[in-house]
Amino acid sequence: MDTPVLDVTADEAADLLRNPYPIFERRRRETTGVFCGSVMDWTRAPAAMRPEHLYAAVSFDAVNRVFRDSKAFNSHIYDSTVGLFIGPTILAMEGKQHWDHRNLVSSAFKSKSLSRWEPEVVRPVVNALIDEFVDAGEADLVRDFTLEFPTRVISRLLGLPEEDLPWFRKRAVELISYHINYKRSFEASGALKEYFLDQIDKRRSRPTEDIIGDLVDAEVDGEKLSDEAIYSFLRLLLPAGLETTYRSSGNLLYLLLTHPDQFAAVAVNRELIAPAIEEGLRVETPLTTVQRYATAETQLEGVTIPEGAVIDVCIGSANHDERRWERSEEFDIFRKRVPHISFAAGEHTCMGLHLARMETRVALECLLERLTDITLVTDGDPHIYGQPFRSPTALPVTFAPARADS
Ligand code: HEM
Repeated sequence: MDTPVLDVTADEAADLLRNPYPIFERRRRETTGVFCGSVMDWTRAPAAMRPEHLYAAVSFDAVNRVFRDSKAFNSHIYDSTVGLFIGPTILAMEGKQHWDHRNLVSSAFKSKSLSRWEPEVVRPVVNALIDEFVDAGEADLVRDFTLEFPTRVISRLLGLPEEDLPWFRKRAVELISYHINYKRSFEASGALKEYFLDQIDKRRSRPTEDIIGDLVDAEVDGEKLSDEAIYSFLRLLLPAGLETTYRSSGNLLYLLLTHPDQFAAVAVNRELIAPAIEEGLRVETPLTTVQRYATAETQLEGVTIPEGAVIDVCIGSANHDERRWERSEEFDIFRKRVPHISFAAGEHTCMGLHLARMETRVALECLLERLTDITLVTDGDPHIYGQPFRSPTALPVTFAPARADS
């Protein structure tokens, strides 16, 4: 089948950063849900960087199928993108190797740990952060809150010494900013490797009850993780766990602040927090697009994908598919719940999805317990921005501290 190439045009490129959703909607309407072309902006990239065969999956069914059929669509593409900075991890593995390795590292994310982490780590971390701005009556919830709490949570869960937090925060930001300054990202990657090796070493002589301790201990069929596997996985947690969580909690706060009636309903009825989190993840996923390789010629929604093609798997578009959700572009926490695909699907389904949901719930609960009348200051036009990673750059708000008896 001779498929026309559909790419983001120069005119569309600026809209793509501010609001890619109308472009995604056009692509769903004008295609079978799959097309030859891309949902990424290639207008400024050197031609040589563009893969020879580039396709995009934009309907829910197509995205779901690509994620679930890892034989036909593998994730080796990560070896030449983020894998260059974090090293070999489960993200780029498949089949038995992926299964064995994922089993080993997932022992550090047991649900037993999660119920302990909430009262012992997440709630105290979030409340300590709110202490820092609660009396001011105003804050930038990105700078003062969403950017900071996932870093503090992960450093406590890893069991890093408190005094290392400023160093760790700086290196983490440098590592995840590889698309802005790849040289600095490489340096941060090397520094984190040395740092984590030292932490691993300390736990070999004195075991600890934290994620690094669990990874050092992890064993399946008598096999342990190598040092390289451990420090690479720890580096993976920075883009996979830290960046996604800070962005998704910023997106949720932005959506609630710009829908004050729904925010007020959540403040009155905390049972609405869980549906609000899911609707926030659906409407504004922190990561709109990931990529896969086609391992052999394959049919997808009537389109022939050649072997070796790169496929944009557009989570953001799938989450807005009008065949799955009525009024799919609207943020509505009261809508009938139909699962979104922001945590992917199939064998690479997000390993931190329960932690991410718990962190976001606790963050919102604590904000609502400690602050009232939270109002967005709209003078500077705060909005969600970016592609494929999206979130607000600032969320200036005013509020009043909640009275202790309220
Ligand atoms: C709202 C927050 C989050 C979102 C939207 C998210 C989304 C995703 C997505 C889409 C993938 C699949 C990527 C792919 O296959 O190309 C993924 C994988 C992964 N995520 Fe998350 N994630 C979030 C939070 C977290 C957290 C908090 C952690 C851990 C601290 C985490 C750890 C991982 C890991 C280890 C993988 C790799 C799984 C594998 O390849 O088998 N994520 N995540």
